[in-house]
Amino acid sequence: MTIECKNISSRQKSALGSPILNNISCQIKKGEFVALLGINGAGKSSLLKSLMGLIPLEKGEVRINDILLTPNNINKIRRQTAMIFQGGGLIRQLSALDNVLCGTLGFRSSWQTLWGFNQGDRLLALELLTELGVKEHAQQKVSKLSGGQRQRVAIARALIQSPQILLADEPTSGLDVIASHYVMESLARLNREKHITVIVVLHDLEMAATYAKRAIILEKGRVIHDGSSQNLSTQFNQTVPTILPSLNGIKPIIQQIA
Ligand SMILES: Nc1ncnc2c1ncn2[C@@H]1O[C@H](COP(=O)(O)OP(=O)(O)OP(=O)(O)O)[C@@H](O)[C@H]1O
Ligand SMILES: [Mg+2]
Repeated sequence: MTIECKNISSRQKSALGSPILNNISCQIKKGEFVALLGINGAGKSSLLKSLMGLIPLEKGEVRINDILLTPNNINKIRRQTAMIFQGGGLIRQLSALDNVLCGTLGFRSSWQTLWGFNQGDRLLALELLTELGVKEHAQQKVSKLSGGQRQRVAIARALIQSPQILLADEPTSGLDVIASHYVMESLARLNREKHITVIVVLHDLEMAATYAKRAIILEKGRVIHDGSSQNLSTQFNQTVPTILPSLNGIKPIIQQIA
Protein backbone atom coordinates (compact mmCIF):
# COMPACT_ATOMS: atom_id res chain seq x y z
CA MET A 1 0.00 0.00 0.00
CA THR A 2 1.38 3.42 -0.93
CA ILE A 3 -0.54 5.40 1.69
CA GLU A 4 -2.18 3.94 4.74
CA CYS A 5 -3.88 5.96 7.48
CA LYS A 6 -5.09 3.94 10.43
CA ASN A 7 -7.50 5.66 12.85
CA ILE A 8 -5.65 8.97 12.80
CA SER A 9 -6.83 11.80 15.03
CA SER A 10 -5.05 15.12 15.22
CA ARG A 11 -3.91 16.69 18.45
CA GLN A 12 -5.30 20.05 17.28
CA LYS A 13 -8.97 20.54 18.02
CA SER A 14 -11.57 22.55 16.13
CA ALA A 15 -13.44 25.44 17.74
CA LEU A 16 -16.13 22.91 18.73
CA GLY A 17 -13.59 20.80 20.61
CA SER A 18 -13.40 17.77 18.31
CA PRO A 19 -10.11 16.82 16.62
CA ILE A 20 -9.71 18.45 13.19
CA LEU A 21 -8.92 14.95 11.90
CA ASN A 22 -11.21 12.56 13.71
CA ASN A 23 -10.43 8.84 13.47
CA ILE A 24 -9.63 8.75 9.74
CA SER A 25 -8.71 5.48 8.07
CA CYS A 26 -7.99 5.08 4.37
CA GLN A 27 -5.70 3.15 2.06
CA ILE A 28 -4.46 4.38 -1.29
CA LYS A 29 -2.69 2.08 -3.73
CA LYS A 30 0.25 2.97 -5.95
CA GLY A 31 -0.87 4.72 -9.13
CA GLU A 32 -4.31 5.78 -7.86
CA PHE A 33 -5.73 9.22 -8.65
CA VAL A 34 -7.98 10.28 -5.78
CA ALA A 35 -10.08 13.42 -5.37
CA LEU A 36 -10.36 14.71 -1.81
CA LEU A 37 -13.52 16.73 -1.29
CA GLY A 38 -15.48 18.45 1.46
CA ILE A 39 -16.76 21.87 2.44
CA ASN A 40 -14.46 24.60 3.85
CA GLY A 41 -12.93 23.56 7.14
CA ALA A 42 -13.72 19.85 6.64
CA GLY A 43 -10.07 18.88 7.18
CA LYS A 44 -8.80 18.29 3.62
CA SER A 45 -5.59 20.35 3.91
CA SER A 46 -4.98 18.94 7.38
CA LEU A 47 -5.26 15.38 6.06
CA LEU A 48 -2.73 16.07 3.28
CA LYS A 49 -0.39 17.72 5.78
CA SER A 50 -0.67 14.72 8.10
CA LEU A 51 0.70 12.54 5.28
CA MET A 52 3.84 14.72 5.32
CA GLY A 53 4.12 14.60 9.11
CA LEU A 54 3.15 18.26 9.38
CA ILE A 55 0.22 17.69 11.75
CA PRO A 56 0.86 16.27 15.23
CA LEU A 57 -1.30 13.20 15.82
CA GLU A 58 -3.04 12.30 19.05
CA LYS A 59 -3.50 8.72 17.92
CA GLY A 60 -3.34 6.43 14.90
CA GLU A 61 -0.58 5.89 12.38
CA VAL A 62 0.40 6.86 8.84
CA ARG A 63 2.44 4.56 6.62
CA ILE A 64 3.97 5.67 3.34
CA ASN A 65 5.23 2.84 1.13
CA ASP A 66 4.86 0.54 4.16
CA ILE A 67 7.13 2.72 6.29
CA LEU A 68 5.65 4.06 9.51
CA LEU A 69 5.83 7.86 9.65
CA THR A 70 7.90 8.84 12.69
CA PRO A 71 10.05 11.90 13.50
CA ASN A 72 13.13 9.77 12.73
CA ASN A 73 12.25 8.88 9.15
CA ILE A 74 10.29 11.96 8.21
CA ASN A 75 12.98 13.25 5.83
CA LYS A 76 13.13 9.93 4.01
CA ILE A 77 9.36 9.98 3.56
CA ARG A 78 9.32 13.61 2.44
CA ARG A 79 11.70 12.65 -0.36
CA GLN A 80 9.05 10.30 -1.75
CA THR A 81 6.16 12.72 -1.37
CA ALA A 82 5.71 16.21 -2.78
CA MET A 83 3.00 18.65 -1.86
CA ILE A 84 1.55 21.54 -3.80
CA PHE A 85 0.25 23.78 -1.03
CA GLN A 86 -3.06 25.64 -1.15
CA GLY A 87 -2.27 28.93 -2.93
CA GLY A 88 0.90 27.50 -4.52
CA GLY A 89 3.30 28.48 -1.74
CA LEU A 90 5.79 30.04 -4.18
CA ILE A 91 8.30 32.79 -3.36
CA ARG A 92 6.88 35.76 -5.23
CA GLN A 93 10.15 37.69 -5.53
CA LEU A 94 12.01 34.81 -7.20
CA SER A 95 11.78 33.82 -10.85
CA ALA A 96 9.71 30.83 -11.91
CA LEU A 97 12.93 28.90 -12.61
CA ASP A 98 14.42 29.64 -9.17
CA ASN A 99 11.16 28.63 -7.51
CA VAL A 100 11.31 25.27 -9.26
CA LEU A 101 14.96 24.90 -8.25
CA CYS A 102 13.97 25.55 -4.61
CA GLY A 103 12.26 22.16 -4.84
CA THR A 104 15.72 20.55 -4.92
CA LEU A 105 16.77 22.06 -1.58
CA GLY A 106 15.22 19.18 0.34
CA PHE A 107 17.50 16.58 -1.22
CA ARG A 108 20.72 18.55 -1.95
CA SER A 109 23.14 19.16 0.91
CA SER A 110 23.93 22.77 1.88
CA TRP A 111 27.42 22.60 0.36
CA GLN A 112 25.97 21.36 -2.93
CA THR A 113 23.90 24.54 -3.23
CA LEU A 114 26.41 26.89 -1.58
CA TRP A 115 27.51 28.29 -4.98
CA GLY A 116 24.05 28.21 -6.50
CA PHE A 117 22.02 25.52 -8.19
CA ASN A 118 23.89 23.09 -10.41
CA GLN A 119 23.58 23.06 -14.20
CA GLY A 120 21.90 19.65 -14.31
CA ASP A 121 19.13 20.82 -11.99
CA ARG A 122 18.75 24.04 -14.02
CA LEU A 123 18.22 22.04 -17.21
CA LEU A 124 15.74 19.74 -15.49
CA ALA A 125 13.81 22.71 -14.07
CA LEU A 126 13.62 24.26 -17.53
CA GLU A 127 12.49 20.95 -19.02
CA LEU A 128 9.68 20.73 -16.45
CA LEU A 129 8.57 24.30 -17.11
CA THR A 130 8.58 23.47 -20.83
CA GLU A 131 6.47 20.33 -20.27
CA LEU A 132 3.98 22.41 -18.30
CA GLY A 133 3.80 25.08 -21.00
CA VAL A 134 5.39 27.97 -19.09
CA LYS A 135 8.97 27.88 -20.44
CA GLU A 136 8.71 31.45 -21.73
CA HIS A 137 8.06 32.65 -18.18
CA ALA A 138 11.08 30.87 -16.68
CA GLN A 139 12.99 34.08 -15.91
CA GLN A 140 9.97 36.11 -14.88
CA LYS A 141 9.25 36.89 -11.22
CA VAL A 142 6.39 34.78 -9.93
CA SER A 143 4.60 37.95 -8.73
CA LYS A 144 4.16 38.87 -12.41
CA LEU A 145 2.56 35.56 -13.44
CA SER A 146 -1.14 34.75 -13.67
CA GLY A 147 -2.75 32.33 -11.21
CA GLY A 148 -2.75 29.50 -13.76
CA GLN A 149 0.89 30.05 -14.67
CA ARG A 150 1.80 30.05 -10.97
CA GLN A 151 0.04 26.73 -10.42
CA ARG A 152 2.07 25.19 -13.24
CA VAL A 153 5.28 26.51 -11.68
CA ALA A 154 4.15 25.00 -8.35
CA ILE A 155 3.60 21.64 -10.07
CA ALA A 156 7.06 21.85 -11.67
CA ARG A 157 8.58 22.59 -8.25
CA ALA A 158 6.90 19.51 -6.83
CA LEU A 159 8.00 17.36 -9.78
CA ILE A 160 11.68 18.27 -9.61
CA GLN A 161 11.78 16.14 -6.46
CA SER A 162 10.77 13.08 -8.60
CA PRO A 163 8.08 12.17 -6.10
CA GLN A 164 6.25 8.86 -6.06
CA ILE A 165 3.30 10.59 -4.42
CA LEU A 166 1.93 14.01 -5.30
CA LEU A 167 -0.44 15.81 -2.94
CA ALA A 168 -2.11 18.79 -4.61
CA ASP A 169 -4.19 21.10 -2.41
CA GLU A 170 -6.73 22.95 -4.54
CA PRO A 171 -4.43 23.34 -7.55
CA THR A 172 -7.29 24.79 -9.62
CA SER A 173 -8.54 27.33 -7.13
CA GLY A 174 -9.04 30.75 -8.71
CA LEU A 175 -8.36 29.47 -12.23
CA ASP A 176 -10.64 29.77 -15.25
CA VAL A 177 -12.12 26.64 -16.83
CA ILE A 178 -9.37 26.24 -19.43
CA ALA A 179 -6.51 26.78 -17.00
CA SER A 180 -8.17 24.41 -14.50
CA HIS A 181 -8.40 21.65 -17.10
CA TYR A 182 -4.81 22.28 -18.17
CA VAL A 183 -3.60 21.84 -14.59
CA MET A 184 -5.78 18.77 -14.01
CA GLU A 185 -4.70 17.25 -17.32
CA SER A 186 -1.06 17.80 -16.31
CA LEU A 187 -1.66 15.91 -13.07
CA ALA A 188 -3.56 13.15 -14.91
CA ARG A 189 -0.71 12.77 -17.42
CA LEU A 190 1.85 12.41 -14.61
CA ASN A 191 -0.37 9.79 -13.05
CA ARG A 192 -0.83 7.90 -16.37
CA GLU A 193 2.68 8.13 -17.73
CA LYS A 194 4.87 8.23 -14.63
CA HIS A 195 2.53 6.23 -12.37
CA ILE A 196 2.71 8.91 -9.70
CA THR A 197 0.05 8.44 -7.04
CA VAL A 198 -2.02 11.63 -6.91
CA ILE A 199 -4.35 13.00 -4.25
CA VAL A 200 -5.95 16.24 -5.31
CA VAL A 201 -8.18 18.47 -3.21
CA LEU A 202 -11.01 19.89 -5.28
CA HIS A 203 -14.27 21.75 -4.74
CA ASP A 204 -15.64 21.01 -8.22
CA LEU A 205 -17.60 17.74 -8.27
CA GLU A 206 -17.63 17.58 -12.09
CA MET A 207 -13.88 17.98 -12.20
CA ALA A 208 -13.52 15.20 -9.64
CA ALA A 209 -15.76 12.90 -11.70
CA THR A 210 -13.81 13.68 -14.89
CA TYR A 211 -10.30 13.06 -13.58
CA ALA A 212 -10.53 10.77 -10.56
CA LYS A 213 -12.09 7.32 -10.32
CA ARG A 214 -12.18 7.49 -6.56
CA ALA A 215 -13.30 10.26 -4.25
CA ILE A 216 -12.96 10.67 -0.51
CA ILE A 217 -15.30 13.18 1.12
CA LEU A 218 -14.53 14.62 4.53
CA GLU A 219 -16.91 16.29 6.89
CA LYS A 220 -15.86 17.68 10.29
CA GLY A 221 -12.63 15.71 10.15
CA ARG A 222 -14.29 12.37 9.33
CA VAL A 223 -14.56 10.34 6.12
CA ILE A 224 -18.21 10.32 5.04
CA HIS A 225 -17.65 8.79 1.59
CA ASP A 226 -14.85 6.72 0.12
CA GLY A 227 -15.69 5.25 -3.26
CA SER A 228 -16.72 6.18 -6.76
CA SER A 229 -16.30 9.79 -7.85
CA GLN A 230 -19.51 9.66 -9.91
CA ASN A 231 -22.83 11.21 -8.82
CA LEU A 232 -21.33 12.86 -5.77
CA SER A 233 -24.05 15.49 -5.56
CA THR A 234 -26.19 13.02 -3.55
CA GLN A 235 -23.39 12.76 -0.97
CA PHE A 236 -23.21 16.54 -0.78
CA ASN A 237 -26.99 16.86 -0.50
CA GLN A 238 -26.68 14.90 2.72
CA THR A 239 -23.95 17.28 3.95
CA VAL A 240 -25.59 20.58 3.03
CA PRO A 241 -28.65 20.30 5.37
CA THR A 242 -26.22 20.34 8.33
CA ILE A 243 -25.02 23.83 7.29
CA LEU A 244 -28.38 25.08 5.99
CA PRO A 245 -29.44 26.96 9.15
CA SER A 246 -26.52 29.35 8.68
CA LEU A 247 -27.23 29.60 4.93
CA ASN A 248 -30.85 30.51 5.66
CA GLY A 249 -29.51 33.33 7.79
CA ILE A 250 -27.66 34.92 4.89
CA LYS A 251 -30.42 34.35 2.27
CA PRO A 252 -32.17 37.69 2.92
CA ILE A 253 -28.82 39.48 2.63
CA ILE A 254 -28.11 37.79 -0.73
CA GLN A 255 -31.60 38.76 -1.94
CA GLN A 256 -30.99 42.38 -0.93
CA ILE A 257 -27.70 42.47 -2.83
CA ALA A 258 -29.30 40.87 -5.90
N1 LIG B 1 -3.06 25.18 12.83
C1 LIG B 1 -4.32 24.98 13.20
N2 LIG B 1 -4.65 25.01 14.52
C2 LIG B 1 -5.92 24.81 14.92
N3 LIG B 1 -6.94 24.57 14.07
C3 LIG B 1 -6.66 24.54 12.77
C4 LIG B 1 -5.34 24.75 12.25
N4 LIG B 1 -5.37 24.66 10.90
C5 LIG B 1 -6.65 24.42 10.58
N5 LIG B 1 -7.42 24.36 11.68
C6 LIG B 1 -8.86 24.07 11.74
O1 LIG B 1 -9.01 22.76 11.29
C7 LIG B 1 -10.19 22.61 10.51
C8 LIG B 1 -9.81 22.00 9.18
O2 LIG B 1 -9.00 22.93 8.45
P1 LIG B 1 -8.43 22.58 7.00
O3 LIG B 1 -7.56 23.72 6.60
O4 LIG B 1 -7.85 21.23 7.03
O5 LIG B 1 -9.81 22.55 6.18
P2 LIG B 1 -10.01 22.40 4.60
O6 LIG B 1 -10.98 21.27 4.41
O7 LIG B 1 -8.73 22.33 3.92
O8 LIG B 1 -10.78 23.75 4.27
P3 LIG B 1 -10.71 24.71 2.95
O9 LIG B 1 -11.64 24.11 1.94
O10 LIG B 1 -11.24 26.01 3.48
O11 LIG B 1 -9.28 24.81 2.52
C9 LIG B 1 -10.81 24.00 10.44
O12 LIG B 1 -11.86 24.05 11.38
C10 LIG B 1 -9.69 24.95 10.82
O13 LIG B 1 -10.19 26.07 11.47
MG1 LIG C 1 -7.73 23.58 2.60
